[in-house]
Amino acid sequence: MVEKEDRVPENKVEPPQRQYPETTAEINENVAGNEPPTTGHTWDGIEEYDNPMPRWWLWTFYATIVWGILYTVAYPAWPGIRSATPGLLGWSTRANVQAEIDGALAANADINARLVEADLTAIADDPELRIYATSAGAAVYRTWCAQCHGSGAAGVAAAGYPNLLDDDWLWGGDIESIHTTIAHGIRNDEDPDARWSQMPAFGDILEDDEIHQVVNYVMSMSGTPQDASAVTAGEEVYLNNCASCHMDDGTGDRFQGAPNLADAIWLYGGSYETLTETVSYSRFGVMPPWSNRLSDSDIRAVATYVHQLGGGE
Ligand code: HEC
Ligand code: HEC
Repeated sequence: MVEKEDRVPENKVEPPQRQYPETTAEINENVAGNEPPTTGHTWDGIEEYDNPMPRWWLWTFYATIVWGILYTVAYPAWPGIRSATPGLLGWSTRANVQAEIDGALAANADINARLVEADLTAIADDPELRIYATSAGAAVYRTWCAQCHGSGAAGVAAAGYPNLLDDDWLWGGDIESIHTTIAHGIRNDEDPDARWSQMPAFGDILEDDEIHQVVNYVMSMSGTPQDASAVTAGEEVYLNNCASCHMDDGTGDRFQGAPNLADAIWLYGGSYETLTETVSYSRFGVMPPWSNRLSDSDIRAVATYVHQLGGGE
């Protein structure tokens, strides 16, 4: 070992000078004998060795090919005209979802059976059933009803989709009426038990001035008529033509789904123009039946959900 004070430049050990070959010829001479063959490609005098691929790399590469083939055999892979090859393992996202759905149904089978058997009016008094039906019903509502009645169930003003939150009911707001409305729908051709009624188009029945009068009378029931001088004559027209469905006092008839005209809540709108259109051409609001699309328990659940929204009777 060299002592500290001896570390002077004289004692420094020079590393051996390496001799680098200067020319390609010298390089070739140096490696002659064990030089691998070249591919024959040359760029600016640089040649490409034709070395074999490293073993580990090659084996990995072959392994990925084998893996790829096995994968396409085991899992759905090759596209066909209608569907892909199914794969030996039978794996399918669709089946997985179905299994999850079946699992959820099985988990709820007992309570769904109780819901189907329960008296409709008794559901609200059974806390467990009520909570389950309300939350299951909310899910049904979001999937099947929100597109017409709105995500918050407030309906679509002036489009004929009624608000389900208020206590103004066309066909009845007790749980049994709501259930019937949902199960069979309204004015549809699909269900023979659908709720049905039809207001005549008075454009063919009444004179224009009679329509003008009766529209003003209808406006006077809940607010201000557009033409006050027509109201008295309008009452006459109303009692002769309208009261059989909308009642003498305009409060409507749930048996026929005839709306209350005296409460300032409108299905289609209360302006002079809209009322004239409704009376002249009439309307025909249609709701599809759900008994052919949803299970009994789903219909009961969504009826419970709608009933507890605020207007339930
Ligand atoms: C295609 C649109 C549409 C869909 C979807 C729809 N409804 Fe309706 N619904 C209507 C229309 C339109 C009316 C009013 C018909 C009328 O004028 O009597 C109505 C009326 C009702 C009524 C009666 C309200 C009353 O005042 O008596 C209830 C309750 C109701 N719907 C619940 C539902 C539920 C629950 C669903 C989902 C399972 C649903 N609706 C899906 C269009 C729809
Ligand atoms: C045969 C029964 C019947 C008769 C008669 C009848 N209506 Fe109707 N009316 C209905 C029904 C049912 C509806 C709901 C229609 C729908 O939802 O498609 C309705 C709806 C209306 C509406 C819409 C209310 C709203 O909230 O937008 C107005 C306004 C109306 N009727 C006025 C009249 C007037 C005025 C007359 C008399 C000239 C009359 N109706 C006669 C059954 C009747």
